Parts: sequence; structure tokens; C-alpha cells
Amino acid sequence: MKIIRSVAEMQKETLMHKENKRSIGFAPTMGYFHKGHLQLIEEAKKENDIVAVSIFVNPLQFGENEDFGRYPRDEKRDIQLAESYGVDLLFIPTVEEMYPTKPQLNMVMVDRVDVLCGKSRPGHFDGVVTVLAKLFHIVQPNRAYFGLKDAQQIAVVDVLIQQYNFPIELIRVPTAREDNGLAMSSRNVYLTEQERAEAPAIIHALQEAKSLMENEERHPAVIVEKVRALLQQHTSAKIDYVELLSYPELKTIEQINQQVIVAVAVQFEKARLIDNIIYHP
Ligand code: PAJ
Repeated sequence: MKIIRSVAEMQKETLMHKENKRSIGFAPTMGYFHKGHLQLIEEAKKENDIVAVSIFVNPLQFGENEDFGRYPRDEKRDIQLAESYGVDLLFIPTVEEMYPTKPQLNMVMVDRVDVLCGKSRPGHFDGVVTVLAKLFHIVQPNRAYFGLKDAQQIAVVDVLIQQYNFPIELIRVPTAREDNGLAMSSRNVYLTEQERAEAPAIIHALQEAKSLMENEERHPAVIVEKVRALLQQHTSAKIDYVELLSYPELKTIEQINQQVIVAVAVQFEKARLIDNIIYHP
């Protein structure tokens, strides 16, 4: 495994693999690996000659009062894990390497961001598409791997790839969960013991939403109310949002007669957790 810290060196590597007609699978991450990240790597491994992974905690996608400074980091452990999962190229740039100058061009998402995390975290997805556009140019992957835990991120990356004509296949990977159903997240380390015990209520509420829809419930409001009530009943977290929208368009709907997402964000004392299910009637 090559550990690469400079953009120029990474571009040299990817160019060489392109010339040798090797396919590149790429999983962008912010590190502090858990099973969700490792699953992306495993999928990339199956379908590509070369697997590239980036670790970069991207300041542009954090709001002023968010956790950029205390975002969990453990580079040594991540390097060992990447190596053991067969990563070929591990790209770990510094902030200065990725953003050597003040921005002279801004990317702004104008669709799919007026809801869910886009609404609660203004500018977040602008930061995400900016860093991904850069990473896609640097790594030039044939396929890019993203987790469905961040379903709005996938919907946004879908727009980025289509609209800017990146020749990249977007691969959606199912959410990796703990045995109790809690979606894996680097931010789970912020949970207190009691919050950890409560957190599986999130997936239980989403499963209840799914079973209502399977039983022909077609009114978004009924489902949203049920999920809200379950979260309030079983957790001490503050509900940031519960929404049911079309997916991947992320539009409000009157009736459930197309693919939809039920998505939740809750704020525990130190950890903001998100989860979702996607359902096709
Ligand atoms: P990060 O939160 O580190 O996540 C990296 C990738 O892992 C994303 O595609 C995310 O959806 C996926 N992932 C996280 N938890 C998962 C889980 N429980 N199951 C499956 N996949 C999971 O998302 C980001 O970083 C950043 O926004 C990034 C795309 C790297 C841009 O900075």
C-alpha cells in the first residue's frame, strides 16, 4: 500500500494506472474507520484493479459551531486497517495541500439541499461537492463508493457526477450497523453509555415506518408522526428532523407512490446521529 500525502504524487500514480488500463475504485472518507468504511473498501476491492481511499477531514463541510476541531482522528489505526483490507493507494493530504489558497471559485448546490441535513447544516453540501470535485479530478476513479447511511450525500453526489460529466459510476453501499441496529458512525464515540442504549430506537422507529408502508399506509404525515412519537418515547435526544420525501429527488410528496426516504436526525448531548430507510412501494 502506498501512503500519499501530496496532490502531485497522487495524480502521478493515478495517471500511471490509467495508462496501464487499470480500473480504479475510490472511497472518499474522513477517516476514523469503522465497519461502514471498510465495507466500501471491500466492495471497491471486488470490482476494480486498484483501490484508492482518501482520508481528509474537510473543513469546508463543517459549520462554524460544528465538530471540525474535535472530529475523531486516528491515522495510525486507519493506516493499519487500510493495509489489512488491501487498499492500494491511501491519500492523506493536509488542509494546506488541498486548499493552498483562499477560494477563487465556489460550488453551490441549488437542488436537493433545502431539506434534511442540507437545511439543518447550511453550506454543508457545498463543502462536500467542492472537496469531491477536487478528489475526483485527483484520483480519476472509474467507480466511487458511498454509503447509504448518508443518503442525501448520495443524492447530491449523483447531481455532481451528472451535471459536471464526471465519467464515474456511483456505487451505493448499504448501511453497516452494530448488532443492535445502530448505524455505524465515527461520531458514535461521542455517545454516553445511556445514549448508546437508547440509540437503537432510531432504527426501530424507521423499521416501524417501513412496516406501516408495507401495510399500505400511504400518507407521509402519519408515518412521520409515528416515527417522531417513537423517538420521543424511547430516547432523550432532541429531534432535529423526521422527514419523508421522494428519493433521490428529495421532494415533499402527498402520497407514497414512488421510491421514498424516511430520514431522521437527532441530537444527543455531544453526538448528532442520522439514519434513514429507503422504501419502494
Ligand atoms: P465519512 O463520514 O468518513 O464517510 C465516508 C463514507 O463512508 C461515506 O460514503 C459514508 O456514507 C460512508 N459511511 C459512513 N457510515 C456508514 C455506515 N454505517 N454504513 C455504510 N457506509 C457508511 O461522508 C464523508 O465522510 C464525507 O462527507 C466525504 C464524502 C468523505 C467528503 O468529505
